Amino acid sequence: MLNIIILAAGLGKRMQSDLPKVLHPIAGRPMLAHVLDNARCLNPDRIIVVVGHGADRVQTMFAGQDLHFALQQPQQGTGHAVMQALPLVLEGDAQDACLVLYGDVPLVQGDTLARLLQARQTGLALLTETLADPSGYGRIVRDDAGQILRIVEHKDASAAQQAICEVNTGILAAPTQALRQWLGRINNQNAQGEYYLTDIVGLAVEDQIAVHHTQPSAAWETLGVNSRAQQAQLERIWQAEQARRQLDLGVTLADPARFDLRGTLHCARDVWIDVGCLFEGEVRLGEGVRIGPHCVLRDVTIGAGTHVEAFSHLQEARVAEDARIGPYARLRPGADIGAQAHVGNFVEIKKTQLGAGSKANHLSYLGDAIIGKRVNIGAGTITCNYDGVNKFQTVIEDEVFIGSDTQLVAPVRVGRGATIGAGTTLTHDAPEHTLTLSRAPQTTRQGWRHPTKRS
Ligand code: UD1
Ligand code: CA
Repeated sequence: MLNIIILAAGLGKRMQSDLPKVLHPIAGRPMLAHVLDNARCLNPDRIIVVVGHGADRVQTMFAGQDLHFALQQPQQGTGHAVMQALPLVLEGDAQDACLVLYGDVPLVQGDTLARLLQARQTGLALLTETLADPSGYGRIVRDDAGQILRIVEHKDASAAQQAICEVNTGILAAPTQALRQWLGRINNQNAQGEYYLTDIVGLAVEDQIAVHHTQPSAAWETLGVNSRAQQAQLERIWQAEQARRQLDLGVTLADPARFDLRGTLHCARDVWIDVGCLFEGEVRLGEGVRIGPHCVLRDVTIGAGTHVEAFSHLQEARVAEDARIGPYARLRPGADIGAQAHVGNFVEIKKTQLGAGSKANHLSYLGDAIIGKRVNIGAGTITCNYDGVNKFQTVIEDEVFIGSDTQLVAPVRVGRGATIGAGTTLTHDAPEHTLTLSRAPQTTRQGWRHPTKRS
């Protein structure tokens, strides 16, 4: 039986924020969501989150997940925090473990945690690290034989202890039954007047329970966030790591330092991504897709061979194979672009199917429309889909040619093969294979004179 206790009650004063610290994002998701992902890699029987500051907001954000919350009010230290979780901890046999994680240490990876649990055997295991500058951290005190004796907090440490570079990351795995018993024995007689979770290490040694340790696979895994600067630093570290993973999977990134992923990105073979792109939500790129510089893609699926050119913005859209999108295209929710279709600069498409081989290359708004195959949408075409109250649909059948600067006042239908003359305001359906236009006759005034300046 594995219980995971996540400490998330702290104030996060240095964030200077009304938002509880663990709700501040890394890669677009609350820090606590990252911790939970990594915790779930271990298939725990129960996850308990200890909340305090902003408890309501934390609980609301994570409502409906398979989680338990323990309230810690007031916050009297990490040991006190774990005590609040104990009534919710599932009981099993003496072999069972509790794993303690921090809500503000978001990037500790599942494989590191699995190694920590393994290192524990039946005893206690600490995740430690050796730092060039250990100040602020609890120090790992060992005996002459190298056995861990206890943890001394920085503020309680002697000068000799402060020189120790091996530190406590705070993450540990303990035998559940012993943990209950140790927490009943700790006190707050220390420099900070707090109940230190770290005091259980000395008690384990007293009880002759083995104290093991392991180190994280990567040093950044145990970095915590106490300030906006640390949050920004961790964001860059995580983005670099995500970029590295994409490179390993065979994606080309023009510059891994200018790649941002806030969600998941699935790429088929030979995808090429230029600088400064942002991927959000769930993005799928087919084989050979090319994404130009400075594009934003959020919850989109793009078919093989499609190119998205610079400065395009795509959200909740689907693009089929071998299409050309952008530069400066905007695909809004419900845009469904067919194979080999072209969407050019300053074209906005919403809730619209653009059929295979169709083109809307310049300056258009296409909303609530069904557009067939091999249609040409002229520059400046606008579907007038909204009367101020309701939205209406425009249907354009296959092989239609819409002249430039046409307004299609929905609901309206353009029959297959029709041509709409430039400048038309279409208010009635246009029959197939005909030319329809609405245009004031052109006149030229003979004898007209250019006005002159009045004296
Ligand atoms: C703790 C460790 C220290 C370790 C360091 C690593 C203790 C006594 N010390 O110190 O050995 O080197 O982390 O960063 O454990 N929290 C609560 N309730 C509380 C206090 C803290 O939920 O009453 C949570 C915080 O929100 C935070 C985590 O526990 O997520 C750690 O608390 P923090 O105050 O940062 O601990 P440190 O003093 O830095
Ligand atoms: Ca801390």
